[in-house]
Amino acid sequence: MTASKPASPPKLRSRAWFDDPANADMTALYLERYMNFGLTLQELQSGKPIIGIAQTGSDLSPCNRHHIVLAERLREGIREAGGIAIEFPVHPIQETGKRPTAGLDRNLAYLGLVEVLFGYPLDGVVLTIGCDKTTPACLMAAATVNIPAIALSVGPMLNGWYKGARTGSGTIVWRARELLAAGKIDYQGFIKLVASSAPSTGYCNTMGTATTMNSLTEALGMSLPASAAIPAPYRDRQECAYLTGKQIVEMVAVDRKPSDILTRDAFINAIRVNSAIGGSTNAPIHLNALARHIGVELSIDDWQKFGLDIPLLVNLQPAGEYLGEDYYRAGGVPAIVSELMKQGLIVENALTVNGKTIGENCRDASIADEAVIRPFNEPLKKRAGFTVLSGNLFDSAIMKTSVISEEFRARYLSNPNDPDAFEGRAIVFDGPEDYHKRIDDPSLGIDESTLMFMRGAGPIGYPGAAEVVNMRPPAYLITAGVHHLPCIGDGRQSGTSGSPSILNASPEAAAGGGLALLKSGDRVRIDLRRGEANILISKEELETRRKALEAAGGYPIPASQTPWQEIQRATVGQAETGAVLENATKYQKLAQTIGVP
Ligand code: FES
Ligand code: MG
Repeated sequence: MTASKPASPPKLRSRAWFDDPANADMTALYLERYMNFGLTLQELQSGKPIIGIAQTGSDLSPCNRHHIVLAERLREGIREAGGIAIEFPVHPIQETGKRPTAGLDRNLAYLGLVEVLFGYPLDGVVLTIGCDKTTPACLMAAATVNIPAIALSVGPMLNGWYKGARTGSGTIVWRARELLAAGKIDYQGFIKLVASSAPSTGYCNTMGTATTMNSLTEALGMSLPASAAIPAPYRDRQECAYLTGKQIVEMVAVDRKPSDILTRDAFINAIRVNSAIGGSTNAPIHLNALARHIGVELSIDDWQKFGLDIPLLVNLQPAGEYLGEDYYRAGGVPAIVSELMKQGLIVENALTVNGKTIGENCRDASIADEAVIRPFNEPLKKRAGFTVLSGNLFDSAIMKTSVISEEFRARYLSNPNDPDAFEGRAIVFDGPEDYHKRIDDPSLGIDESTLMFMRGAGPIGYPGAAEVVNMRPPAYLITAGVHHLPCIGDGRQSGTSGSPSILNASPEAAAGGGLALLKSGDRVRIDLRRGEANILISKEELETRRKALEAAGGYPIPASQTPWQEIQRATVGQAETGAVLENATKYQKLAQTIGVP
């Protein structure tokens, strides 16, 4: 359906602040201070919509810093379409800068933005998205408040190069780590190699969580068509900022809100696009969180149901070879949506920010370079979605099937009688610090048949959930040619990692999940076809261990270091259901009121 203009435009929220004769003294107070930097009374009382620019860029957030520049074109678009722009900062989230983990700050930025959108005279908002957690934080807040909102991606960095080969963000770190562990490069060489992957402004140029979430934002209909993949420094990105500014003003005029766009159909489209692009294992956490804040039913099983059988079409690192510039030139999100549409795999009438459906936006798109985006019938992998596992280790965890390498398949999934299952001896690490301390200790006896476990790394245990489940094997195994051991845990992993880990386990050890009962030396069996993950011990032994753990006061959680860590731990849910602040989900459609009790 295409939204039509309502007969009379909706009354603007901002009028309750700036033009309310019945409340003259408050109106005067609101007006005088917004005039003190040069906005005129005429502008503020003109009836023009006030458009917020939720600015996520700053010196602390290099991935999104280019939004400071883009905001100029954004303002010009807003102004030209008849709006008034008011820019304000969002709590910074730099994936590679924040300790203990940027994951902790998604819900904090969300909370902050909800308060701003609810409590200030804003009629619509441009969400400046980019680096991993900035995208879900902004979308989640817009969903809770439900004022007209459009996302503007900052775009990926240019491709990185080193000695004639593409070096991709994050992905090169995992590679460089192996080279360092094997003694092939030194400390300085390590840093030089990693830095080569970041040649310009923008976010990670790989198909990490940033490219994933910006692509899915477009697939959900929350940003302009063909906008997600434009590299940050390209002139097209500036044009896109201008057009985004114009679009939000029209959205306010017709009252097109997140709830009109973020329907279950939109989420199903996004799940399918996520498989086709080889998207990050963080996507289910963020999209499930977004669905909860907008009030749409979406479960972890929906990811397997709608996504598992979708083929991998995008040949980007870490699952493939290319990087962000190539992705854009090959056609970006519309080319992928169009391929899926031809197979009937897109709900075409899902509405998008420009008032058209995703079908209308993408029907005529095509692939410009089949080396980078494959046609549906010539995919890189036939099934590229997430397998959902459960058992006595956890109720749910996911595995990204698109990154299962030939090496991994040959070593673990090649038993002709049992091709989708493997079994091994567990070595358990309690948090990343424990892992770093002990991984190269030969007395652990880690060999090719070891399954490495990471626990204490979930939303409560390592507040925010650390990206640490993809663990490199000990140096002596890498030297011997073993690059990946199966890794399983209650933490997350970077979208830039090519490891087929089993992760986001829920409930986590710190919330009483079965991982807390596991001991090094236990045999564990993983069956991908059946979706099972079990410690091979008796029910009685499991019960005995549970009682002992309870008697000891449960799985030990390190003390909170900041007030926010303590607040988040008290209210955060598990990865499976989005790791949201549970008591926040009851607050929905806040923009229906004007911020007074
Ligand atoms: Fe910001 Fe990857 S670190 S996008
Ligand atoms: Mg990350």
